[in-house]
Amino acid sequence: MNYIGIDLGTSAVKLILMDETGNILKMVSRTYPLFFPRPGWAEQNPEDWFRETAAGIKELTADCSREEIAGIGTAGQMHGLVALDENDKVIRPAILWNDGRTAEETEYLNTQIGQEKLLQDTSNIAFAGFTAPKLLWMKNREPELFAKIRKIMLPKDYINYCLTGVFATDYSDASGTLLLDVKNKRWSEEMLRICGITKKQLPEIFESYEPIGTLKPEIAQTLGLKPQVKVAAGAADNAAAAVGTGTVGAGKCNISLGTSGTLFVPCSHYEAEWGGALHAFVHADGNYHLLGCILSAASCNKWFMEQILQDSDFKTIQDHIPEERLGKNNVFFLPYLMGERSPVNDTNARGTFLGMSMDSTREDLLQAVLEGVGFALRDCLEIARKQGIRVKGSTICGGGAKSRLWLKIIANILNMELTLVKTEEGPGYGGAMLAAAACGEYGSVAECAANVIETVGIVRPDASIAAGYEKQYQKFRKLYPALKNVFRELYAEQS
Ligand code: XUL
Repeated sequence: MNYIGIDLGTSAVKLILMDETGNILKMVSRTYPLFFPRPGWAEQNPEDWFRETAAGIKELTADCSREEIAGIGTAGQMHGLVALDENDKVIRPAILWNDGRTAEETEYLNTQIGQEKLLQDTSNIAFAGFTAPKLLWMKNREPELFAKIRKIMLPKDYINYCLTGVFATDYSDASGTLLLDVKNKRWSEEMLRICGITKKQLPEIFESYEPIGTLKPEIAQTLGLKPQVKVAAGAADNAAAAVGTGTVGAGKCNISLGTSGTLFVPCSHYEAEWGGALHAFVHADGNYHLLGCILSAASCNKWFMEQILQDSDFKTIQDHIPEERLGKNNVFFLPYLMGERSPVNDTNARGTFLGMSMDSTREDLLQAVLEGVGFALRDCLEIARKQGIRVKGSTICGGGAKSRLWLKIIANILNMELTLVKTEEGPGYGGAMLAAAACGEYGSVAECAANVIETVGIVRPDASIAAGYEKQYQKFRKLYPALKNVFRELYAEQS
């Protein structure tokens, strides 16, 4: 049988058709608009997501035997607030994971409610991108719209709802709402009270690999699929990417270089001491994981190339950065184009170039952009290390992982081996794997991963380049603390 994996991303929806042995038969990608109504705000229309997803499914399955399709699994951009009214109409554009408008509400949660209590009730502290502060923002700033909310869901849950009519979510994605008692895997009554919502407004929670239902007959007909096609609960994109790279079970790590950059460390059990600097979430295999998330990763490269250099040839300019230049750049870049999540949790932070002189070139600036993302990931790694977590090596996926130069830079900044898997389309592949597990093709997520994941290469750090980057990182880590108050003075008004 065949399985469809959907990665509902921020720049596009990417769909994969996978057979039961893990072979990718076809891939399709469709874009939709992303709106930045104010600096630091980010919104998308859920209707756009579903329209393009449905068109993508049709395109994906156009020339295959549709009878063979048994299941669909969706991986979604996390934390986005999708609110539906009593007629199941979307009330306002979804407020996305990288939206920084909730600085005040986040501060309220972390200081008035208090981080201790948040950690006790949800295992996490508040970050501006999380769903709970967005609900508080709507309650405070759009009370008439807030009063209309009947269903609260996450982006991929909207897709699943349109496909099946079942109001459901999964634990990995629910973890990022700050409404879930992560340790006990149930909605936190306390957090619902704090946000002024009820359990009726929230979806039923499933494990990522469980089926939530089958296609609605009219949707099956529109898509040309059997109504018996099972839809898995699916997962948060990072958890699905971890599945899609075989990052299941303790002692592993996955880095995702998509619009965001993440460091994902699976854990075999829940630890009471996880302190909030990294997110403590449920994994798509039913276990837990720690997650560090930087808000702008591949998006920094895209922004610099397309918006600033106005050059769509990403490869040629990278080819002009020789290996001898690595670890020796005088230019630094802070990749905070959307503020920053881990570890600084600061909506006022902004992208910043530093250290240019008359001999600086466009290549130096691009190199600084790629390095800045690597250094920000290193910040997350350092937090994990402080929490006693040993990360020896990592897999890596996402659009940014297509660049050999960037892989080399990151391997050396983190000073560890990066393993490449056959597909760098982590979340979509993970989504298809979850669909296969939901249909009983494999007994568990781990069994599926053991059967289908293939590694195709390793990028190793080089001792002298890594030493250069170690010195550079020690400089980089001084920059944000030096600029923190400047950012607040200059940009607090905007956030
Ligand atoms: C993770 C996060 C991002 C989005 C990107 O906490 O916010 O990685 O999931 O799609």
